[in-house]
Amino acid sequence: MNDALELAVVVPTFNERGNVATLVARLDRALAGRNWEAIFVDDDSPDGTASEARALGRTDRRVRVIQRIGRRGLSSACIEGMLATAAPAVAVIDGDLQHDETLLPRMLDLLQGDAALDVVIGSRFVSGGGTGEWDRDRIAKSALATRLSRRVLKGDLSDPMSGFFMIRSDVARRLAPELSAIGFKILLDLMTASPVPLAFAELPYTFRVRTEGESKLDHVVAMEYLIALYDRMFGRFVPVRFAMFSAIGLLGVPIHMGVLALAILGGATFLFAQILGAMAAMTVNFFLNNALTYRDRRLKGWRQLLDGWVSFCVVCSVGLVANVGIAAFVHDARAGGIAASALIGIVVGAVWNYALSSKFTWGRY
Ligand code: GDD
Ligand code: MN
Repeated sequence: MNDALELAVVVPTFNERGNVATLVARLDRALAGRNWEAIFVDDDSPDGTASEARALGRTDRRVRVIQRIGRRGLSSACIEGMLATAAPAVAVIDGDLQHDETLLPRMLDLLQGDAALDVVIGSRFVSGGGTGEWDRDRIAKSALATRLSRRVLKGDLSDPMSGFFMIRSDVARRLAPELSAIGFKILLDLMTASPVPLAFAELPYTFRVRTEGESKLDHVVAMEYLIALYDRMFGRFVPVRFAMFSAIGLLGVPIHMGVLALAILGGATFLFAQILGAMAAMTVNFFLNNALTYRDRRLKGWRQLLDGWVSFCVVCSVGLVANVGIAAFVHDARAGGIAASALIGIVVGAVWNYALSSKFTWGRY
């Protein structure tokens, strides 16, 4: 049993070509004497990160690659990597050398030595750890994100935002169906997915400075973080996507009204102005949903966009008919007053639009 696989190191990558070889060399040094494999999960990086990793994998069988097409996301990449190994323990480490790989053997020893332990976390905020050369702005944002996370966390983690940890593979597999897989916060996702708090240990490390490539943490990732928190708190009652879809739908109201007013001022008939308002609202809705709600399945290129826009307009038009029909029915049956009837119509219309557009507009490519 001496050569049994002990550990998989999952490395999510996007445009990290220049870091791949160095990381493998460092893993080789840090994990000398252990049986490990590295799984690069690359989202089809334009810089050819996946090819670089495959080139190494041809002569070093410990190096494996999952190349995902048409998908993006740090968390979902980590999940796929964690599910792709036979090793009993799996670590997640950034591909840009900012995490301290020399911690890996100690993490593995801890997991192997204590059957009650589920996860070992690399922490910047226990004594001995640090954020390296972060500026005040990033420190403040990270602290805010950490504070917010306390609202969903069960245990008292010092660094729930850490992207560097090791977990038992069977625990990861058990939790996988419960993960929201949104954004960057894979550890937070795992810790909050478990019905019983996971048993964890923390090891200090100092976050290193990036020398090759650039960070992918941007405003969208920050927004995704808030979405992920929402999902954990209220997702059971109103799914994230539906909440976003509805919020964007609400935004359509002032757009509709604005265009309607402008068209009437410009001398259009009410009917024509009304159609114009509805088209404007649907078009803005379509592009916002495409950019935000369905960011992970975003339609691209004029062909997909045109197809998507047409199907979205058709779905919403039918939704509007359903909305008016249901509201009139409820009202006529004297089952509700004016406002209640209208509201029921709106809810039915929204659910209709959401359900059908997720299938016909964003479910086809
Ligand atoms: N497959 C895949 N898909 N990988 C991605 C994606 C993606 O969409 N976005 C980023 N990555 C990879 C990067 O290539 C890198 O290897 C790693 O994920 C971390 O991304 P960075 O863009 O370097 O993140 P960061 O350094 O700003 O943030 C890190 O530190 C945070 C702590 O504040 C990450 O480790 C975060 O998870 C961590 O919370
Ligand atoms: Mn980084």
